[in-house]
Amino acid sequence: MTKEKEKPNYSILAEIYDRVMHDVNYVAWTDYIDEIILEHHPYAEDILELACGTGTMALSMEEFGTYNITATDGSAEMVKKAQEKADRIGSDVQFKTVNFLDIDLDQTFDVVYMVFDSLNYLHSKEDIIRLHEQVHKVLNPGGIFIYDFTTPRNSVKAIRYLNNEASIIDNQYRYFRKSLYDAENQIHTNRFEIEQFEGSEKNVLERFTEEHHQKIYSFEEIRPIIKETDFSILKAYDGFELKPAHTRSLRITMVLQ
Ligand SMILES: C[S@@+](CC[C@H](N)C(=O)[O-])C[C@H]1O[C@@H](n2cnc3c(N)ncnc32)[C@H](O)[C@@H]1O
Repeated sequence: MTKEKEKPNYSILAEIYDRVMHDVNYVAWTDYIDEIILEHHPYAEDILELACGTGTMALSMEEFGTYNITATDGSAEMVKKAQEKADRIGSDVQFKTVNFLDIDLDQTFDVVYMVFDSLNYLHSKEDIIRLHEQVHKVLNPGGIFIYDFTTPRNSVKAIRYLNNEASIIDNQYRYFRKSLYDAENQIHTNRFEIEQFEGSEKNVLERFTEEHHQKIYSFEEIRPIIKETDFSILKAYDGFELKPAHTRSLRITMVLQ
């Protein structure tokens, strides 16, 4: 019997992350972030990405040819994957392992951005305020901070299609994702069970689990928290649009200055 190992978030998932996210349109997402930058800070050059994961977005941003990009994530395993991808294509993006609650970089930036629910990994108002303080420290005067978060409405909808998703990857990994949403406490849980096998699927070498808990926020909950920071809200956009967020928004993209 292969023993199941509980792993820190994204340590094992890093191996299969790009395949699990295969249906995410990062090119469209990159275009959207670029559009926001052009709208709110058109002469931006130095860009910092937080929670960059395996670097897909940063590498896509680099293709515009107008930005100097530093991309960071708290998971060393995710950053390693990003660096491997960067090395393969000869990218100049600087990848670093950085906890966004403790940003220690000797450079400042015109834009800091963070996408794909990464804010939802923060479970307390204090941590959200701390993130804003850390970003404020590394922003140039007039710089902007862009990030998105998902709303309770999104979690209720997502449960319908994310639950019990299973797949085999590269004839080497099998994963099973179970999603739960605790509406009362606004906690969205994704539990990944990952098996590494060799040859036949029956020959399981190791079994891992990762359980991700995200706190889900409405705009009404985030807005007063931002008021306690040194930022002001330039825009709160609905989803991937340049239209205002509203009470039915599934994902809200904030632009702060
Ligand atoms: C849903 S993934 C998004 C990754 C990437 N932005 C993307 O679009 O694929 C969330 C990311 O947040 C990172 N993360 C969570 N907490 C973090 C922290 N305190 N500091 C830095 N990164 C963190 C995780 O390691 C993970 O890569």
